[in-house]
Amino acid sequence: MDFKSQVTGPKGLSAAVADALLVVVAGAELPVDLDSVLAEALAAAIKQGDFTLKAGQLLYAHRLAGVKATRVVFAHAGDGSAKALRKAVAAGLAPIKAGGAASLAVAVAGVTLTDAHAEALVAAVTDTLYVYRHTKPSAPAESKLRSVSLQCSKAETAAVAAGLKRGQAIAAGSTLARECANRPANHCTPSYLADQARKLGKDHGLKVSVLDRKDCEKLGMGSFLAVAQGSEEPLKFIVAQWQGGAKNEAPVVLVGKGITFDTGGISIKPAPEMDEMKYDMGGAASVLGTLRAVAQLKAKVNLIGIIPACENMPSGRAVKPGDVVTSLSGQTIEILNTDAEGRLILCDALTYAERFKPAVVVDIATLTGACVIALGHHRSGLFSADEELAAQLSAAGEQALDPAWRMPLDEEYDEALKSHYADMGNVGGRAGGAITAAMFLKRFTAKFRWAHLDIAGTAWKSGAAKGATGRPVPLLTHFVLSRAR
Ligand code: BES
Ligand code: MN
Ligand code: ZN
Repeated sequence: MDFKSQVTGPKGLSAAVADALLVVVAGAELPVDLDSVLAEALAAAIKQGDFTLKAGQLLYAHRLAGVKATRVVFAHAGDGSAKALRKAVAAGLAPIKAGGAASLAVAVAGVTLTDAHAEALVAAVTDTLYVYRHTKPSAPAESKLRSVSLQCSKAETAAVAAGLKRGQAIAAGSTLARECANRPANHCTPSYLADQARKLGKDHGLKVSVLDRKDCEKLGMGSFLAVAQGSEEPLKFIVAQWQGGAKNEAPVVLVGKGITFDTGGISIKPAPEMDEMKYDMGGAASVLGTLRAVAQLKAKVNLIGIIPACENMPSGRAVKPGDVVTSLSGQTIEILNTDAEGRLILCDALTYAERFKPAVVVDIATLTGACVIALGHHRSGLFSADEELAAQLSAAGEQALDPAWRMPLDEEYDEALKSHYADMGNVGGRAGGAITAAMFLKRFTAKFRWAHLDIAGTAWKSGAAKGATGRPVPLLTHFVLSRAR
């Protein structure tokens, strides 16, 4: 998809050359800056009871007199915020996306456009047009839409152009993450993730290295290896580096959980919806997506992605409840529940991150069902004892319309991890499960500033429109960009 900004000509929107026109209006009054032909049409529709100036309202018109574009959609965007615009554009595309239009002009009346609006437009268009088809040849045909122009004033063009550029990089990253997480686990294996990382490296100038089981054994990643040992699928430990900043500048490190399928292991999960556990590599996917976005923007920042990738399977060689392993940090872990495997692969990756002397480390993981119960599917769980880092990540989430919510890390929660046979158990009780999982990770982060994002509820949508969301690529990209020179 091609996105551009276009200064609306003197004859106004009705003269805009495009196959379709999406007119977004905001506020409770008919906007004064709306082209007179379109304003008249809209006023008539309001008068005849076919449109109301309220959020969510939608009206389609074909061959509207005096308008050059064949198709016109009016959509109301509530208060005119970027978030409201995203919703209005998604709704407004419904009558257009499956039709014959190849070019779309979008105008937003009653609003001064910012970069956030432009970014939201790109997100809405790419999200709405995305169709998973890799293993489904019968999926709906691709939309004919090829170009989208955002109409703006001269004064708005610089901000709009910047927002479109950032939006497109984030959209490409989100789509990559989405595509990986949607792929079934027999397609998206640890080796596939490693190949994706190598391909990213080639296309976008990243340095990529992949460790295999022998390497991990030499290093002493007893915890990661314990999870991987039940599967025939070879594990991969992926490290990808974007060097956009000065050589000696401390990097931002992102660590993504890459469980390409989570059966639970010997502590096996119930059958219903187990298929969805193919998205247990959503954290890994978001790391790849963010690397892609940051590299596409050639951001002046050093960014390293670390992805421990394997399957969690039951088998004759699988790790058993009660087994004790030694993590890369030297701390021992009693694996009381093999289904709490995410923290077991992340702890070794976090210890591995120490060697990069990171400025900050953020891990991203579909870590707990408890987080879904706590926050639902709208906000990711954000955990950090570092006030400033937590504030930066929260702010990035709000800006990116990919929000998170801070959760506590009081030391009292750590009690639950006590073990009779090792330095710690890998589970506490059911209560506060998302927090005890974070407390477990925290034990491996003494050497750097650290935050954890639990994306179990946000990386995936269940129900009719089920599938991967590409989150939290927008949040992470905003966060990394905020640290660039
Ligand atoms: N991958 C799951 C968490 C998960 C659950 C993600 C639902 C997305 C949707 C994780 O590995 C897991 O199984 N966690 C257990 C932890 C428990 C055994 C302490 C859980 O949440 O039940
Ligand atoms: Mn699990
Ligand atoms: Zn898992």
